[in-house]
Amino acid sequence: MTAPGVAHPLVGRAAELDRLDAAMDEVRVAGPRVVLCSGAVGVGKTALLRLFADRAAQHGATVMWPRAFGRPGAPPYWIWQQVAGPNRLFGSPPLSADRAAIAERIADQLRSVSAGQPAVLVLDDLDRVDDSSLLTTLPRVLRALGRSHLLVCCAYASDAPHTSEWSAMRHVLKAAAATEEMLLTGLMAEDVRRLLISSGLAAPGPDLVDQVVAITAGNPLFIVELARHLTRGGPDRPEVPLPRTLGDLVRYRLDALPESARRVLGAASILGERFRVGDLARALGLDAAVCFEAVDEAVRVGLVAPVSAAEAEFRHALFREIVESRLRTSERIGLHRHVAEALEAAGRPSGDELGVLAYHWAAAAAGAPRPRRARGHAGRRTRRCELAPTRTPNGSTWSRSITPAICRSSTRPASV
Ligand SMILES: Nc1ncnc2c1ncn2[C@@H]1O[C@H](COP(=O)(O)OP(=O)(O)OP(=O)(O)O)[C@@H](O)[C@H]1O
Ligand SMILES: [Mg+2]
Repeated sequence: MTAPGVAHPLVGRAAELDRLDAAMDEVRVAGPRVVLCSGAVGVGKTALLRLFADRAAQHGATVMWPRAFGRPGAPPYWIWQQVAGPNRLFGSPPLSADRAAIAERIADQLRSVSAGQPAVLVLDDLDRVDDSSLLTTLPRVLRALGRSHLLVCCAYASDAPHTSEWSAMRHVLKAAAATEEMLLTGLMAEDVRRLLISSGLAAPGPDLVDQVVAITAGNPLFIVELARHLTRGGPDRPEVPLPRTLGDLVRYRLDALPESARRVLGAASILGERFRVGDLARALGLDAAVCFEAVDEAVRVGLVAPVSAAEAEFRHALFREIVESRLRTSERIGLHRHVAEALEAAGRPSGDELGVLAYHWAAAAAGAPRPRRARGHAGRRTRRCELAPTRTPNGSTWSRSITPAICRSSTRPASV
């Protein structure tokens, strides 16, 4: 299992790497440990853990880095299914609502991986993955690890919204004896200068470095994006005011797009962080060529990156959130309906795709002018997808359990 790629050589973070290495040493002799790595969006949690995990793998550790689903409507226990790899832990989706039994099964798998040699499990973006399973399962799994040699590295954005379940889970994790917290803060000025250079600015002068430090507070994501702004199409004279926030920078790029491409990107933001261009075309009733062209424009201005010939993704979750936040509520609801219809038109979704469809139908129903009727309609559609028997950890049906997630995702502020 591989972690997402990190584009830049790491600067700074020597002290944090030492702490992670020390935690790994303890895992070898004293049993499981948990590191809670937090910090602002884009501060470099993933980049740090990626480097650490790569080094641990070179020293013989097994590294597990389950991939996020990347779209709303992730099946229950998605993260744990990824840990298990092709030999899935449960049928898809799991039918049992017995949380204790499921947690024991997961812990069993982790114990067997880390019994003979050390292993690292990275749970990245913990605040954003399928929380119906994680919030209730993770603390139980950690308690059941026994004497295994497992280091669990959890990363989450410290500025993530505080739901009560999420706060409760963090409290449980922090209270455990084998847990240590690691708060990442911004880079120092010298590291900011080095990152500007590795991002393409040949010789940033002290004034520019000071300005970038003041604006970004040393946030690497913001620094990398500012460097791109300065080197490609943005103002090339440092005296021209720079965008003051990452959000301003994203909005600047959006405004540089033709209206038609903005519309396509708006629909892409509803499909999720990663999207298929064919789905976009079907949802908008457009020619695929038109959508490919719009995606190319979005790639050019630095909002989106190609994944394959047919797929692309937002370059950062925050970019998607900002694009979505610019949609009017009525537009958003309409797009959910069009996306649901497009997914159905593409062939009856099955397996892992069912939750995606249920999510879009439920979101289309939320806030509709006649919500009861719309919800009834959404319920009938999702039951037709055979979702009703699916049980989640708290015993509710899957389609019902994703509704709170919809409310959260549509109210989450794009505040950076
Ligand atoms: N120490 C660093 N040196 C160089 N580049 C870095 C460093 N930290 C992060 N980056 C770069 O900054 C960008 C954002 O980093 P990363 O994705 O690790 O942030 P994050 O804290 O995981 O963000 P999020 O909260 O969105 O998950 C990436 O392009 C990454 O390569
Ligand atoms: Mg990250």
